[in-house]
Amino acid sequence: MAVTTTAAPALSVDRVAKHYGERRAVQDVSFSAAPGERLAIIGPNGAGKTTLLQIVAGSLAPTGGTVSRPPREVGWVPQQPALYSKLSVEENLRLFARLEKVADREAVVARMLEQTGLADRAGDEVGRLSGGNRQRVNIAIGLLSEPPVLLLDEPSSSLDPRQREVLWDFVGGLAERGTTVVYSTHNVGEAERYADRVLVLADGELLFSGTATELVATVGPGRDFEAAFVAFLHERGH
Ligand SMILES: Nc1ncnc2c1ncn2[C@@H]1O[C@H](COP(=O)(O)OP(=O)(O)OP(=O)(O)O)[C@@H](O)[C@H]1O
Ligand SMILES: [Mg+2]
Repeated sequence: MAVTTTAAPALSVDRVAKHYGERRAVQDVSFSAAPGERLAIIGPNGAGKTTLLQIVAGSLAPTGGTVSRPPREVGWVPQQPALYSKLSVEENLRLFARLEKVADREAVVARMLEQTGLADRAGDEVGRLSGGNRQRVNIAIGLLSEPPVLLLDEPSSSLDPRQREVLWDFVGGLAERGTTVVYSTHNVGEAERYADRVLVLADGELLFSGTATELVATVGPGRDFEAAFVAFLHERGH
């Protein structure tokens, strides 16, 4: 969607750092995101993507820095969801809605089942769902408190191509209605197609923030996005 850069940011992250002893998992990362903006975080294994998202979600305490929003205003869809496999889809949603102290629980649960296309699976045991449907439950839980900002860690990694389409359509719809969506991915083609802006993280450092086209331009024309991304990392010593 068209993102108005003059709008007040929906999310500001200021000099966030996470150190594990000598290891700097995240080093003074700052960025902000506008309402309705879709932001992709890309970078090699161990770059600090998950760590950064966990900090922004409020599920991990940073060593330093600040996040503009309290955790209850940030929805979080971790890569490994903590779902109860013996409970049904609906029971899982109710349980998480209670844990998150969501007001008007039944209405919110019904709305999330509808929004994520799970209404006809409401009574199914989560442990018996396909990966794609489990991912929908995961996303529904992240959205229970109807947060203005939603974070997803590698949301498409276990999905088949058709389910990926469904996921990105859904994410696009959320963004169009004003939700800021920040996600990590190793599928750089998806970052190019389904993000308004890309953040490149490597060894805990934020190396780039801009559009996919701008990233290609920094390494010179004539490369596709994936090749440009690899060349960019190489130029920066990664
Ligand atoms: N609990 C921990 N204790 C020590 N080091 C950790 C811990 N969690 C993460 N790290 C380290 O922090 C760095 C960043 O890890 P992180 O999982 O955030 O990377 P990532 O970009 O998400 O990688 P991937 O693409 O493989 O998911 C890595 O070097 C990792 O080993
Ligand atoms: Mg990760």
